[in-house]
Amino acid sequence: MVEKERLQKVMASSGVASRRKSEILIKSGQIKVNGEVIRTLGFKVSPDDQIKINNHLIKPIAKKSYLFYKPQKVISSTKDEYNRMTVSQFFSPRLHLFPVGRLDYDTSGLLIMTNDGELANLLMHPRFTIPKTYLVKIKGLIKSNDLEKIRQGIKIKNTKYAPAKIKVKKVNKETGNSFVKITLTEGKNHEVKNIFSYLGYSVRRLTRIQIAFLKDEGMRSGMFRQLTDIEIKKLKNLSKKGR
Ligand code: URA
Repeated sequence: MVEKERLQKVMASSGVASRRKSEILIKSGQIKVNGEVIRTLGFKVSPDDQIKINNHLIKPIAKKSYLFYKPQKVISSTKDEYNRMTVSQFFSPRLHLFPVGRLDYDTSGLLIMTNDGELANLLMHPRFTIPKTYLVKIKGLIKSNDLEKIRQGIKIKNTKYAPAKIKVKKVNKETGNSFVKITLTEGKNHEVKNIFSYLGYSVRRLTRIQIAFLKDEGMRSGMFRQLTDIEIKKLKNLSKKGR
């Protein structure tokens, strides 16, 4: 089934005007859909409808998705009120990309950037269970009973963290740091930091190295590559299965 979208949303995502400006254009009778003037804000259009602004055809922007390696000290949002660098600044504004989910300001690693609303909705669905893997440097020598707790799933106040896979990569007795690889299937805010802090360890460095089958191989901070049609299809299928 083809999903219909609100006219002002389609106009905004095709880059002709902001959502607010598009609403003004609609109300003032400057927009035609299939030859008919539309002044209703709730009006919905399908991808086959012909939208014209003052008799110029609006071309929808092509859907694009990227795998981005977010550096530390970059905010996972399109704008920042404190003027910090945002993930959007790495891409052309004409693409209208936004991040799928968030990585903390001090977390680096993989983040999907897209203008494909369907993909973003599927990936951000609360019941979405695509695994995400992180490399974590923590202060303290990780105890085996704490590893077991993480594997069983942890309840912190009213929040339940599902069982996670965890593997110790290295324990450095001299510096007192441990390095672990953890795979989570939920998308809760600050989940890695919350789990370790609950167990008494502070997270010193956090890097997301894998989202489902997408790995960080060959990528460094600030790099990105376009996702292929096959990868997008696979991601959509995986997330539909997880619901
Ligand atoms: N968990 C966190 O605590 N922070 C992130 O950025 C991602 C997962």
